Amino acid sequence: MEFLIALCFLAAIVLASAFLIAFFFSEEVRATKDKDPAARSYLEIILLYPGLHALVAYRIAHELWLRRLKFLARFVSQSARALTGIEIHPGAVIGKGFFIDHGMGVVIGETAVIGDQVTLFQGVTLGGTGKETGKRHPTIGDNVVVGTGAKILGNIEIGSNSYVGANAVVLESMPENSTVVGVPARVTKQDGKRIDIMMDHARVLDPVKQQIEELQRRLNELEQKAKP
Ligand SMILES: CC(C)(COP(=O)(O)OP(=O)(O)OC[C@H]1O[C@@H](n2cnc3c(N)ncnc32)[C@H](O)[C@@H]1OP(=O)(O)O)[C@@H](O)C(=O)NCCC(=O)NCCS
Repeated sequence: MEFLIALCFLAAIVLASAFLIAFFFSEEVRATKDKDPAARSYLEIILLYPGLHALVAYRIAHELWLRRLKFLARFVSQSARALTGIEIHPGAVIGKGFFIDHGMGVVIGETAVIGDQVTLFQGVTLGGTGKETGKRHPTIGDNVVVGTGAKILGNIEIGSNSYVGANAVVLESMPENSTVVGVPARVTKQDGKRIDIMMDHARVLDPVKQQIEELQRRLNELEQKAKP
C-alpha cells in the first residue's frame, strides 16, 4: 500500500513538472520538436530529453546568477549536470531555439555566448584554452550546428550559419556561412563553395598534410630517376 502511495506521489511530481515545463518553457520544447526528427511527441520531449532538462535548469540558474545568487545558481547547474551529464555554467548567455541533441558530455563555459537557433551534439566543449582571463570562452553566432565531440576553445567567434564538423578542434575565429573540420579546424566550405586547402595558399593550415605531399613528391622524383 505504501509503495502504491509513493508511486502515485512520484507520478504526481513528474506530471506537475511536465506541466510547468510545458507552460514556462514552451519555446524550448518547440525548438526541440522542430530540430529532432526522432522526437515523436511533446510529452516524450518534456519527460525524456536531457538537453531540454539541462536548458530549463540553465534558464533558472542564469536568472539566479544575474540576481547575484551565485552559489544557488551553481548548485542548480551542478545538480542538472549530475542528472543529465550536461554542464552549462550559469554565467553563459544562450539565445532562443537552443537545442542539445543526446547531450552527454557537453560543457559550456562561463563567458560563452551562444546566438539563436544553435544546435550542439553530445561531447561538445565551448571552453577556455587556460591561457586567457576575462572573456575566455567562444562566441557562437546564430544558426550554427556544432558536431559531436567538437571542441571550440578560447575567446574566438564562430560566424553565423556555420557547421563545425564532428571532433573538430577550433582554435581560431571562423567566418560566417562556413563549414570547418579537422584538428586544428580549417574552413572546407564557405558560402556554399568548397575550399581546396592545398590550392589556396592563403589558407594552408595543415603542416602534416604538407609534409606528406612533399615526401610523396620526392619519392616520385626518385622513382623517375631510378627508372632505367
Ligand atoms: C562537416 C559536416 C557538417 C559535413 O560537411 P560537408 O561540407 O557536407 O562536408 P563533406 O561531407 O562534403 O566533406 C568535405 C570534406 O571534409 C571531410 N570531413 C567531413 N566531416 C569531417 C569531420 N567531421 N572531420 C574531418 N573531416 C571531415 C570529408 O571527408 C571531405 O574530405 P575530402 O574533401 O578530403 O574528401 C559533417 O561531416 C559533420 O561532421 N557533421 C556533424 C554531424 C554530427 O555530429 N552528428 C552527430 C549525430 S549523433
